[in-house]
Amino acid sequence: MAVAHWLVLFVTVIVVSNMQDVNGALPAATLEAIAKANANGPYIGIVIPNLFEMGPLLNSSSYSAAEIIDFSGRRFRFGTVEERKVILVMTGLSVINAAITTQLLLSFFNVEGVIHYGIAGNANPDLHIGDVAIPQYWAHTGLWNWQRYGQGTEDELALESSGDYTRTLGYLRFANYTTNVTGCASHDNLLNNIWYQPEEVFPVTGTPEERQHEFWVPVGSTYFAVAKKLEGLKLESCVNATTCLNYTPSVSTVERGVSASIYLDNSAYRSFIYDKFNVSPVDMESASVALICYQQNTSFIAIRALSDLAGGGSAESNEADTFVNLASDNAVTVVVEFIKQLSSSTL
Ligand SMILES: *[C@@H]1O[C@H](CO)[C@@H](O)[C@H](O)[C@H]1NC(C)=O
Ligand SMILES: *[C@@H]1O[C@H](CO)[C@@H](O)[C@H](O)[C@H]1NC(C)=O
Ligand SMILES: *[C@@H]1O[C@H](CO)[C@@H](O)[C@H](O)[C@H]1NC(C)=O
Ligand SMILES: *[C@@H]1O[C@H](CO)[C@@H](O)[C@H](O)[C@H]1NC(C)=O
Ligand SMILES: *[C@@H]1O[C@H](CO)[C@@H](O)[C@H](O)[C@H]1NC(C)=O
Repeated sequence: MAVAHWLVLFVTVIVVSNMQDVNGALPAATLEAIAKANANGPYIGIVIPNLFEMGPLLNSSSYSAAEIIDFSGRRFRFGTVEERKVILVMTGLSVINAAITTQLLLSFFNVEGVIHYGIAGNANPDLHIGDVAIPQYWAHTGLWNWQRYGQGTEDELALESSGDYTRTLGYLRFANYTTNVTGCASHDNLLNNIWYQPEEVFPVTGTPEERQHEFWVPVGSTYFAVAKKLEGLKLESCVNATTCLNYTPSVSTVERGVSASIYLDNSAYRSFIYDKFNVSPVDMESASVALICYQQNTSFIAIRALSDLAGGGSAESNEADTFVNLASDNAVTVVVEFIKQLSSSTL
C-alpha cells in the first residue's frame, strides 16, 4: 500500500518538476504535489546556502532521498536524515535569497522547525578553522543609518523621532580606521558614522502592517539545549591525506553570530564587530533565515563551520579556498548529530 502510494507520488513529481510557474502563480499540479507531501509531514526544513555545502549531506549515508518538488526557481528535496523526515532547500547567496527561500519553505510546507547550516567566516579569536559554532542569537548587521558628516553621538538621526531609526545599538566610526596619520590626535573622515539598526518585523502572531523591531533574534530554546549536548564533539581535521590542521576541530555553542550582504574579508571590521557584539560566525544568510523563522513562529537553529579567520591575520594558513570542503563536511557531521540528538531527546 505504502509502495503504491510513493509510486503515484513519484510519477506526479516528475510532472511537477517540469512545470514552470512562468507567470508567478503556481500550477495546480504543483499545489497538488505540495498538498500530498504535506499530508506526510511534518518535516524539518534544512536550509542551505550553496551547492557545495549541500553536497556532503546529499552524499551522507544518513541521508535518504525521496521526491523533489520544484517551483519559484527553487528545488525542495524530500527525504530523511537519521529517519527524520526532512526537506532540503538551497537558497543561493546572501540575505535576499535566504529570506525568499525560507519564506517559500514555511508558507508552502508543513515544517516543524528549521535547521540552517553552512560555512562562515570567524571573528572570535578563541575559535579556529574547522570548528563548528552554534550561536544563541543572530542579528542582521547590514541595515544602517549613515549619519551625515558633522553630526555625532549627541545628534538625533534622520527619522529617529518617528521611530524608524535608533541610536541604541551603536555605531562604527570611519575616522577610527585612518592609518599612518602622525602628530594628529583626532582624525576626521567624511564617511562619518554608520549606526546599526534593528529589522522591522511583522510576526504572524501580530497584526498585519503593524511593525515591530528585532535585532538579536534568539534560536529555538529546545534546539539550543540540544546543541549544548554536542559541545566538544570532535570533528575532522584533514582536507585530504596530506593537508591537515594541527589540532582537532570541535563544536561549541557561542553567544552570537551576524549576517549581512557583505563578504567579510577585512580584519579591522572583524575585530570591531567581535569587540562590539561578541560575535563568532560571520556569514551572509543565517540572520535572514532567523528573521523569517521568528516571524513565522517556527523554531530555528543555525550551525556554521568556520572556514577562515575573516580578513586573515592568524598563524594558521587561513584560506577559505583550502578549508571550504573540510568546513562543509564538518557542518554536515554536526547537522546529522544534531538530528540524532533531537530525535532521542526528551527535552
Ligand atoms: C559525492 O560522492 C562521490 C563519490 O564518493 C564523489 O565523487 C562526489 O564528489 C561527492 N559529491 C559531493 C558533492 O560531495
Ligand atoms: C573610536 O576610537 C576611540 C579611541 O580609540 C574609542 O574610544 C571609540 O570607542 C571608538 N569608537 C567607535 C565607534 O569605534
Ligand atoms: C604606513 O606607513 C608604513 C611606513 O611608511 C608603510 O610601510 C605601511 O604600508 C603604511 N600602511 C598603510 C596602511 O598605508
Ligand atoms: C510562537 O509565538 C508564541 C507567542 O508569541 C511565543 O511564545 C513562542 O516563543 C513562539 N515560538 C517560536 C518558535 O517562535
Ligand atoms: C590536498 O589539499 C591541498 C589543499 O587543497 C592541495 O594543495 C593538495 O594538492 C591536496 N593533496 C592531495 C594528495 O590531493
